[in-house]
Amino acid sequence: MLEQLEELKLNALKELGAITGIKELGLWRVCYLGKKSELTRILRGLAALPVEERKLSGAQANRVKADLEATLSQKEQALREAQLVVAAEKGRMDVTLPGRPFPVGHLHPITQTIYEVCDIFASLGFQVVEGPEVEWDYYNFEALNIPEEHPARDTMSTSWVDFKTGDGRRPMLLRTHTTSLTARVVESRQPPIRVVEPGKVYRYEASDATHTPMFHQIDGFAVDRGITMADLKGVLYEFARRFFGEERKVRFRCDYFPFVEPGVEMAIECLVCGGSGCRLCGNTGWIEILGAGMTHPKVLQRGGIDPEVYTSFAFGMGIDRLPMLRYGIDDIRLFYSNDTRFLSQF
Ligand code: DAH
Repeated sequence: MLEQLEELKLNALKELGAITGIKELGLWRVCYLGKKSELTRILRGLAALPVEERKLSGAQANRVKADLEATLSQKEQALREAQLVVAAEKGRMDVTLPGRPFPVGHLHPITQTIYEVCDIFASLGFQVVEGPEVEWDYYNFEALNIPEEHPARDTMSTSWVDFKTGDGRRPMLLRTHTTSLTARVVESRQPPIRVVEPGKVYRYEASDATHTPMFHQIDGFAVDRGITMADLKGVLYEFARRFFGEERKVRFRCDYFPFVEPGVEMAIECLVCGGSGCRLCGNTGWIEILGAGMTHPKVLQRGGIDPEVYTSFAFGMGIDRLPMLRYGIDDIRLFYSNDTRFLSQF
């Protein structure tokens, strides 16, 4: 019996030593320690043995059982540890790899342009102000020396808002230019004033490659004692140099706007042909960028600023054309079609 137990133990331990997987441990346990195992059968059969032998064999059988159980649990622990090492090895990551890029949005090219233009004027001492897009006729036209019958109204196809007040004020509209903000600033501040006024403007027009019913402008306005046309030219030259480059030629010519006297238009040398003439500049070599002039005395007076004491210059330009010129975009509608394949390029 003792020999039988010894052999059983040796066999069991040998098999246990060869096991490499946790699952097989379960099978081994059933085979050597389970209810139907040889050891269990021996233990049960002890009762039938003579007393002396029962003592000896019983003690030995219990020792074998305890040995097997202890070795099993050691083996199980060793296998589990090995498994952890393998898993850690498999899942190891290279912490020096760059992270996966997150798809983040960015500013719309028009917004980027507005920020850039505002930054240039801010560095020249101008403050950025904003105002309402739904505007009184008064600020969009009347206060800017454009009375009701003025032909300049026809050039700005106006979207009227169907709303009239009982206090005699004219109806409201969607502002046709950001110059409406100049009319607001002039009556709410005292000189010295230096502001730029970016924003959306609206014209009642069909869309095509160069027109949309909504687009963007930025106006500028400076009021102080002794301001002259030289200040106007100095500021606008500086803007053109910074935005279009040091070498870009700039031209001023006379133009008419009801709210300035004298009025000018500023053009830059064509960005495509450099002045020799092409389709973009209509063979003139020049591209008009903005309107400007010395603020009309009537405009200052209406706002409560004495034109005998103060003088002022003003300017206004379209924003959308700037990135179109810079990047060679030939259809303004691309800015407003929400196509991220286009927008993500900027
Ligand atoms: N408001 C004009 C337009 O939309 C542009 C303009 C011209 C603005 C001359 C000005 C200016 O401030 O002085 O066409």
